[in-house]
Amino acid sequence: MSHIIEKLQQEHGEFRVFLKVFDAQLDKFRQGRSPNYELLDALLDFFTSFPDEWHHQKEDLVYDAVIEKAGPMTDSLVNLRAEHEKLAAKAGHFEDRMAHLRRGSDLPMVEIVEAGEAYDRLLRHHMVKEDQVFFPMAQKILSVDDWLQIDDQISQQRENPELVDKMLRIRSVTDVISEIVAE
Ligand SMILES: [Fe+2]
Ligand SMILES: [Fe+2]
Repeated sequence: MSHIIEKLQQEHGEFRVFLKVFDAQLDKFRQGRSPNYELLDALLDFFTSFPDEWHHQKEDLVYDAVIEKAGPMTDSLVNLRAEHEKLAAKAGHFEDRMAHLRRGSDLPMVEIVEAGEAYDRLLRHHMVKEDQVFFPMAQKILSVDDWLQIDDQISQQRENPELVDKMLRIRSVTDVISEIVAE
């Protein structure tokens, strides 16, 4: 298996762990209890940055290579790129609801929970499609040379100082999440 796919799957594993933590915080809202805002902020920070700024960028490179090779795809795969934009919008919507809450608006809890659930649901569904359909298809269709080219593109992006800074910042956010969860 390509190490690029392995890394993407490993990142999905991290997303699932964080989604579980996120679910537990949503549960507190559902029960009318106060969530851990520091944890929720860190989770929001992670989900509004890492997937968009790095994970989806890499998947899009694989996706483009598969499309170039395989031509027209099934409907579910055509939607993958569009879902990356939808996921960013849904994470942004939840962030916006949280900002309203912090400003002291009397936003009904159900709106916060629904915004969080919508993001959670779409991300989980999206990852299942990638794990079960997209990644196996990419494995089957792409040659060693194709993977080398993608690897090269990823390496070039990784050298971008702006991305390096973003990744360092995101790593510190994931450290905060792990520390709070371990408490
Ligand atoms: Fe994706
Ligand atoms: Fe993904």
